[in-house]
Amino acid sequence: MSSQQAPRKRVTVNDFARMKAAGEKIAVVTAYDATAARLVDQAGVDCILVGDSLGMVFQGHDSTLPVTLDQMVYHTAAVRRGLSRGGGGRAHLVGDLPFGSYQASAEDAVKSAARLVAEGGAEAVKLEGGRDFAEVVRRVVRAGIPVMGHVGLTPQSVHKLGGYLVQGKDEERARQLLRDAQELEAAGCYSVVLECIPAELARFITARLAIPTIGIGAGPDCDGQVLVLNDLIGLDQTFQPRFVKRFGAVGEAIGEAVRGYVREVRDRTFPAEEHGFHSPSLRLLHAVDEEPRDDAQVIGAPV
Ligand code: KIV
Repeated sequence: MSSQQAPRKRVTVNDFARMKAAGEKIAVVTAYDATAARLVDQAGVDCILVGDSLGMVFQGHDSTLPVTLDQMVYHTAAVRRGLSRGGGGRAHLVGDLPFGSYQASAEDAVKSAARLVAEGGAEAVKLEGGRDFAEVVRRVVRAGIPVMGHVGLTPQSVHKLGGYLVQGKDEERARQLLRDAQELEAAGCYSVVLECIPAELARFITARLAIPTIGIGAGPDCDGQVLVLNDLIGLDQTFQPRFVKRFGAVGEAIGEAVRGYVREVRDRTFPAEEHGFHSPSLRLLHAVDEEPRDDAQVIGAPV
């Protein structure tokens, strides 16, 4: 940010409420590092989620379950630094509570959430689960930390759900999900992610909540939308679930750039003159190197 630009006003939980009331869509995207954070913030997202999806996307696991709280703190702090560089960050920053960091007790949840805020610089935390977690939400909110809920397909419960499956497809399950979302709202959540549920249900829930819903695989009628950055920029060409739209082909661009680099290293066109450094005092180094050596004059050489 140049010194002339006015610092942009940070998006807060109050803006989430205002945006829902005004019918303004909330654009959320994940980021796991400082560079990505700066890029997506400058591109105008309202909120960055440091999601535990980083376990799959960044660490290469086949679920989010191995992600630790220390790792989430590390990535959240990196994103915070990217956002704060130059003081210009606008996006609201949410850190995800990973598996095992909040399920055992409300005390655990408060301590874990506090680490994401104090050490990671998050402004809010997200946790997965419905009405069973209402008390946990209440306690974290009471500690002064805003909570984003997450219902529907909750990846930390993948084994309980029997896979990464669309949730709430029959009327009974749909009504349970509505109740989950309503209880999270009553417990103090300021927003709730609806993941992989039928569009009809997402619309139904969105109309019945005062807090904004943030959809992923939940149709067009949520108050906001979230996508994993790597998916939306087309970084990994092997992964494209139905709910992802690719807005770029960054994976191809990286392949093209690296192929060009390899080619130029091999044919010696990179590095060129303009990529190097020179020191006039070292001009004679080669000449000296090439002179015949008189070993007897080298200090320390055996006589
Ligand atoms: O971990 C994550 O990135 C998420 C979003 C996809 C909602 O939970």
